[in-house]
Amino acid sequence: MTSWRGLLDSGYRSRLPVSSSTPTVSLHEGNTPLLPSPHLSARTGCSVYLKIEGANPTGSFKDRGMTVAVSRAVETGATTVLCASTGNTSASAAAYAARAGLRSAALVPAAGVARGKLAQAARYGARIVAVPGSFDDCLRAARQLATTPGVALVNSAGNELRLAGQRTVAYEIVDALGAAPDVHCLPVGNGGNITATWEGYVAYGRGRPRIWGFRAADTRTEATAIRIGSPASWESAVAARDASGGRIESVADAEIFAAYRDLGRHDGVFVEPASAAGVAGLLARHAAGDVEPGQRIVVTLTGNGLKDPDAAADYSTVGLDEFASSLTA
Ligand code: F0G
Repeated sequence: MTSWRGLLDSGYRSRLPVSSSTPTVSLHEGNTPLLPSPHLSARTGCSVYLKIEGANPTGSFKDRGMTVAVSRAVETGATTVLCASTGNTSASAAAYAARAGLRSAALVPAAGVARGKLAQAARYGARIVAVPGSFDDCLRAARQLATTPGVALVNSAGNELRLAGQRTVAYEIVDALGAAPDVHCLPVGNGGNITATWEGYVAYGRGRPRIWGFRAADTRTEATAIRIGSPASWESAVAARDASGGRIESVADAEIFAAYRDLGRHDGVFVEPASAAGVAGLLARHAAGDVEPGQRIVVTLTGNGLKDPDAAADYSTVGLDEFASSLTA
């Protein structure tokens, strides 16, 4: 078996907006596990699969689009990779920029970015710019700065390079299952990923699922990755919803965090809170009687749990003696 060398060189180069002369900037992203969930399958009466995007090199699905965007940034002579981010885009952009020998900078909300993501961006050598305000403020500022020569803005909104890379998740799922699932659930922040996932199924031409996207109901959600006031790709997200006969709904933090805990406890998969929104939404729809049994359902788990250690920090420990005696009790 030849080893996997990433989306451009092992995966789907002919389907990506690069030419034979585009240099490959890769961390061998993609080819992530599609893991059956016995627990969610039993709860819903369906065959539920988890697409583990936290297994990507920087721990989120962002790497799929970033390999394309940064490869093209090198080709076009950019010197700085810039983004606005709730954290994952900044980590991914910084890693690919480091790999390419480019500078990187990330505009992040001064409050509310998970610690693991900032740690990543820092170690990959990014300049982290703390913007007082929301993600929306960061994106506005980044768009202004991106007019500077040599700066490549790598946010996904309106960015065909990022979206084309993110479409590959659908190709992998269809290749693994032999066909598209009946339903595909995922979290929605700016709406780029729901757009790309839908377009991926359409482009691959081997079936189309209904796409169910779930946003955080609370604009101050503790699922900080999707703490976004006005989704930058809202129109295309709604178009994906409508063309697929799907839905975009909101889930409460209590539902998100219940799903977050269940994924760890029952599936052995540690995700960051936002990544559990797709599962939370699926279970809410099931409780409402909207999930027909017997369907094949894929849920994208967008990011790794280690990115947000504070969200997971409410555990307790026991002493050695107490533990030893509990074993025989
Ligand atoms: N899940 C995670 C873990 C994310 O980091 C994001 C977005 C989403 C879901 C939503 O994806 O925006 O394409 O609808 N994170 C962006 C960032 C905003 O800056 O890292 P979307």
